[in-house]
Amino acid sequence: MYDGNYNLRSITGIIENDQDNIAMSDNQITLRDLTTQDLDAVVRWRNDSNINKYLVNREKTLPEAYAWFNRITNSSNNLPKGIYDDNQLIGYCIVGDIDKKNRKCEVGVIIGESRLWGKGIGKTVVTELLKYCFEINKMHRVLAVIVKGNERAERLLKSMGFRYEGTFREATIINNQFTDLNCFSILEHEYK
Ligand SMILES: CC(C)(COP(=O)(O)OP(=O)(O)OC[C@H]1O[C@@H](n2cnc3c(N)ncnc32)[C@H](O)[C@@H]1OP(=O)(O)O)[C@@H](O)C(=O)NCCC(=O)NCCS
Repeated sequence: MYDGNYNLRSITGIIENDQDNIAMSDNQITLRDLTTQDLDAVVRWRNDSNINKYLVNREKTLPEAYAWFNRITNSSNNLPKGIYDDNQLIGYCIVGDIDKKNRKCEVGVIIGESRLWGKGIGKTVVTELLKYCFEINKMHRVLAVIVKGNERAERLLKSMGFRYEGTFREATIINNQFTDLNCFSILEHEYK
């Protein structure tokens, strides 16, 4: 039975040789319900130029983030989760736009602490989200939308079995420029 929290597999070994010497052995990546206490970090990440160049232009102030949070948590169509490295919040993810009638939804992942990119955490999280979507929630189709040029996210999605589906042309504004959004999806028979 899903209890609201996921304990992902330990990532010990993947990041213990980290060049920044972050002591992470014995640490575990966990997904827990996102709370209003997490919104300061969400706002910080959304205003971080290393990160927001990869994000669809969205709520950037704390009041806007509260409004976003209330909107997504007041609907049963969204499942937002904080990503924790032990007890430290390092990012968040969401299964959103859950459409039970058509058995489809969308996923998104943000590792807000960019020093932790490229260490397998994104893959661990997406693996768990897909398990939730296909095995628990019996979805038929899962969508992910990423900013054009986000090679790390593209590689992650493709390695998980997502296929490129098409482009929303100039669908968001990033650094004052209209920017394309690329859509990737995976269907239940492609999920293994
Ligand atoms: C995209 C993101 C979630 C990926 O998480 P991550 O922990 O960095 O990813 P992983 O370490 O699991 O690696 C994923 C893939 O990217 C590859 N990768 C790592 N560094 C890379 C780089 N500089 N360029 C291209 N690919 C790279 C990895 O090799 C891996 O592919 P593989 O399994 O085929 O080897 C994370 O970087 C992030 O939060 N970025 C900012 C927000 C964002 O872009 N979110 C995506 C919107 S859904």
